[in-house]
Amino acid sequence: MTARRRRPMLLLRRVAKTYGAGEVAVHALRGVDLVVEEGDFVAVMGASGSGKSTLMNVIGCLDVPSSGRYLLEGIDVSQLDDFELAWIRNRRIGFVFQSFNLIPRTTALRNVELPLIYARVPRHERRMLAEQALGAVGLGDRMHHGPSELSGGQQQRVAIARAIVTQPAIVLADEPTGNLDTKSGHEVMQIFSRLNAEGRTIVMITHEAEITAYAKRVVHLVDGRVDSDRRATPLAAPPPQLAAVDTEAATA
Ligand SMILES: Nc1ncnc2c1ncn2[C@@H]1O[C@H](COP(=O)(O)OP(=O)(O)OP(=O)(O)O)[C@@H](O)[C@H]1O
Ligand SMILES: [Mg+2]
Repeated sequence: MTARRRRPMLLLRRVAKTYGAGEVAVHALRGVDLVVEEGDFVAVMGASGSGKSTLMNVIGCLDVPSSGRYLLEGIDVSQLDDFELAWIRNRRIGFVFQSFNLIPRTTALRNVELPLIYARVPRHERRMLAEQALGAVGLGDRMHHGPSELSGGQQQRVAIARAIVTQPAIVLADEPTGNLDTKSGHEVMQIFSRLNAEGRTIVMITHEAEITAYAKRVVHLVDGRVDSDRRATPLAAPPPQLAAVDTEAATA
């Protein structure tokens, strides 16, 4: 009997991405090898310009490699047409950005329903799923508020709810705590931790060492290549000094 090997969630082989040509060519990725299994939680670090966002765009099917091979759930995305790629982005990938990217002047609920509208999920089901996702990020009581009536941390939680509402295979986050204060950042990271504990695969870019502490694995990019890739014991709770602040606030 042959043991059946699970196919990786992501597989990149010598992925390169060059912007422009000739004298002005920028080699943003220079041969990235990366395998991410289902259930992993990867933090991607690296200096500004090292290729982190470019890598994220390739993984998220927002951009295509100039060369090399990229398989998402075993599918060679270079073979797909625009319609199929849009389907994959909508159903299989959840995106979280540094600047939240919520639609202003509409409610949190409506923001979270949006990917389900694209996915043509019927109205009543859409509503139920969006409410569940907002409940899962602790915003059950703020659903009818617009982004301008929510704190940065709450807006990012709405964005996370929007990213997970379609039950994607993978959540991609580009500096999700970059615009947040320390406490809100750790709250957002605890949500990512919980999603990962529930089996969700996460790839997250961050500049902050203390944010990488929540990941199971830290990949460093240098000049468009993987420079190091190490396993770590993830932090499930905020660091003690923040937990202490929380307790004080709760008992004040
Ligand atoms: N659309 C583009 N056209 C041309 N060059 C680009 C484009 N996007 C990125 N680059 C270049 O590719 C390189 C990698 O950029 P990338 O945005 O991936 O870096 P990053 O690691 O995300 O940086 P940061 O930490 O500042 O966000 C940089 O030199 C950048 O200027
Ligand atoms: Mg970037």
